[in-house]
Amino acid sequence: NLHSKPLCYVHYKGIKFPPGYNSVENLCFAENEFEVQDDDIFNVTYPKSGTVWMIEILSLILNGGNPSWNQSVLNSCRAPWFTTQLGLEAAHLLPPPRLLTCHLPIHIFPKAFFSSKAKVVYTLRDPRDVLVSYYHFSKMCVPFENPESFNHFLESFLSGDVPFGSWFDHVTGWMKLKGKSNLLFISYEELKQDLFGIVERLCHFLGKELDEAAITSVVENTSFEAMRRNDMCNSTMLPKEFMDQEKGTFLRKGICGDWKTHFTVAQSEYFDKVYQEKMEGLKGIFPWEH
Ligand code: A3P
Repeated sequence: NLHSKPLCYVHYKGIKFPPGYNSVENLCFAENEFEVQDDDIFNVTYPKSGTVWMIEILSLILNGGNPSWNQSVLNSCRAPWFTTQLGLEAAHLLPPPRLLTCHLPIHIFPKAFFSSKAKVVYTLRDPRDVLVSYYHFSKMCVPFENPESFNHFLESFLSGDVPFGSWFDHVTGWMKLKGKSNLLFISYEELKQDLFGIVERLCHFLGKELDEAAITSVVENTSFEAMRRNDMCNSTMLPKEFMDQEKGTFLRKGICGDWKTHFTVAQSEYFDKVYQEKMEGLKGIFPWEH
């Protein structure tokens, strides 16, 4: 029972992972031995950037817009977390093309990917909104340390002392591959602004062209409201030992800019200063900067 144990994160290659479902053995296997198939589609994110949203979108695209799979099978079985034992077993049962999910930074990603034709969809989000979402999530997700205060969490986030490591390292690491034909970068902000257009872009990237009615179905079934109603993706089916639904809602607000209701002016200035330093060389290309 994770409730009664002091938290002891799993450490692997400079990154800490939440206990209970990650192990050094599984992470090492994912990096070095996981067999990548050429038609695998990896859904990669830093936590709280739209991981579960992208699972819904990709699952629907693979099914030509038909929502029956999304409505009858848990997201963790449709796009397994292959870095965990259960996820690995689920991944082995999936027929191709497989959807696979992880929060791995690039230096721990399956080595076999780099000599394969498999594809990665990397979703990223305004780090200030990631931070706010992560703060609330950490309070309800049992394997994560309960934040002492918002300010304390902000300090941990900026120094990279949070599960899955530094947002800055994660994003800059993956962005080094930008331009490769088997990687697509999508932002949460673009999803919010033009879901139809992004679904079209994803279809093209995956070589799965859908007609307008099918794309409309993808858009309708992946709205925040539709996902909140769908128990196969809204996290309400997760056991209480993992997610304490009394402490919050996984599909919390689903908006851009919620950081403005959380950051003080001083916190915002401090964040900007760190952002400017860490994102040197990558500035001006992200939607939240405009
Ligand atoms: P908030 O906490 O800001 O609401 P992840 O899946 O990577 O853990 O990210 C979770 C965040 O994505 C949550 O953000 C959640 O509400 C948001 N999200 C999930 N599905 C969404 C959707 N269909 N539309 C908008 N936001 C969505």
